[in-house]
Amino acid sequence: MSAGQAEPGAVADRAVADHGDHHGGRPEEAAVVRVEKLVKCFGSNRVLDGIDLDIAKGEVVSLMGQSGGGKTTLLRCINLLEEPTEGVVEVGGEVVSKDGECLHRARRVQLRQRVGMVFQSFNLFQHLTAAENVALPLLRVGKVERAEAVRRAVDLLGRVGLADKALELPSRLSGGQQQRVAIARALALRPVAMLFDEPTSALDPESSAEVLTVMKELSTEGITMLVSTHEVGFALDASDRIVFIDRGKVVQAGPPREVVFGSASERARDFFAGFVRLGKTAG
Ligand SMILES: Nc1ncnc2c1ncn2[C@@H]1O[C@H](COP(=O)(O)OP(=O)(O)OP(=O)(O)O)[C@@H](O)[C@H]1O
Ligand SMILES: [Mg+2]
Repeated sequence: MSAGQAEPGAVADRAVADHGDHHGGRPEEAAVVRVEKLVKCFGSNRVLDGIDLDIAKGEVVSLMGQSGGGKTTLLRCINLLEEPTEGVVEVGGEVVSKDGECLHRARRVQLRQRVGMVFQSFNLFQHLTAAENVALPLLRVGKVERAEAVRRAVDLLGRVGLADKALELPSRLSGGQQQRVAIARALALRPVAMLFDEPTSALDPESSAEVLTVMKELSTEGITMLVSTHEVGFALDASDRIVFIDRGKVVQAGPPREVVFGSASERARDFFAGFVRLGKTAG
């Protein structure tokens, strides 16, 4: 992580200028998330090695690939939990990182309001109820009045099928229910895009299915989503595109069925082989 590093800052003012200039002269349909020639090094380890990725408004992209390929690092570079080493990251038409210079620390809070992130491990506050967890960003960052924040939190919990659990503490919820609370919390500030990092990999199959159902519903509601996942079924059913990452590079990208069943990349074919074999047996 970058805590302790000197604060890079030169991008901040330029980013504001870009934003105010009708997306820096780009067309209205500019990508919600744009990543160009993104490089991330940890010491001498080049973990992301020139990633290009545009995500359009309403698009659902599944990020797949073998363990250690760089999926989590890519997600963390988009909301600046990691500082990119080289390349460009834009969110909602605003440059948040360019050539190793990132938004000022203070402005990263605003960035994270605009990009909701859902982690594998939920990260809920254990001493707060489900509704309080969801209301917290509305109170703290959204400056919403308490009664209104709670009302909206209960609405959001309803959207993930948990209206009746609003007053429960996380310890009294299943893993799948906790993850759905985390999704509701990430939706609270109406982000321009949602990033998911293996949201079901810590869950049993039943809980996974609940969470995937909620995510599929979001995908049909026009929420822009980038999802790191090993769930091939979800990628096929719910995403518009699979982007396959191997050793820090995009080695295959396209419509889900093409990537799963007809990939030119040997690494991608290996990755999907088990699923494809199973499908053939079942069919
Ligand atoms: N903070 C860090 N410091 C040093 N190396 C790191 C750090 N975070 C990740 N890495 C390295 O970067 C590489 C990519 O890791 P990353 O977690 O992005 O992979 P991944 O594709 O998400 O894998 P998985 O499918 O297992 O989640 C790995 O070699 C990892 O060891
Ligand atoms: Mg990961």
